[in-house]
Amino acid sequence: MAAPRIVVFAGSIRTGSINEKLAAAVAARLAAAGARPTHVSLKDYPLPLFDADLMARDGIPAPARSLVELFFEHQGAFVASPEYNASFSPLLKNAFDWMSRVNVEGRPPLPAFKERAFALGAVSNGAMGGYRGLTQLRTMMELGLGALVLPEMVAVGNAAEAFGSDGGLANERAAGFLDDVLGKLIRTAELLW
Ligand SMILES: Cc1cc2nc3c(=O)[nH]c(=O)nc-3n(C[C@H](O)[C@H](O)[C@H](O)COP(=O)(O)O)c2cc1C
Repeated sequence: MAAPRIVVFAGSIRTGSINEKLAAAVAARLAAAGARPTHVSLKDYPLPLFDADLMARDGIPAPARSLVELFFEHQGAFVASPEYNASFSPLLKNAFDWMSRVNVEGRPPLPAFKERAFALGAVSNGAMGGYRGLTQLRTMMELGLGALVLPEMVAVGNAAEAFGSDGGLANERAAGFLDDVLGKLIRTAELLW
């Protein structure tokens, strides 16, 4: 069986994003574990704020369809999600909302989400590492999008000290936990395919 393909992205397009750093670390660890990661930025999939009138008038924007196509090419996904007011970023919500409107003939509804495994992580400056936001993201993905989300979530606090000079997680225990979660993501993606 070919190594599973895993798409990796952050719910932030901010210059210097700490969640983008996590996404980069995840892509490197997935490659080290023998998977085939694709690290993308939502910056390359610009979407207007969701507006049903806009959709009725112009249809679904091409970047939303491209994201669905991208997901089709992968068996799993890792989302590095910034915490905004104990929830997740509007950028992420908007992208997923548009993607949820894409129907593909011959596939069940929400095809980008229902046919693959997801793992979630967050980095924040606070002590809780964005964990509260991840619980909100999990709820939306599971209940709203029908996604299979691994129970283990990687929440990395104290962002200023979180990354080593090699870009990986500096704390040995946190790095080990991340590898455990990614190993489970790879195995689950293999099972689903
Ligand atoms: C609107 C807003 C709300 C925020 N709320 C939280 C929060 O609830 N908890 C937290 O730890 N950090 C919070 N932050 C700080 C962000 O986690 C921090 O800006 C982080 O760097 C954002 O992720 P990024 O670097 O990947 O863009 C908030 C930031 C913004 C802009």
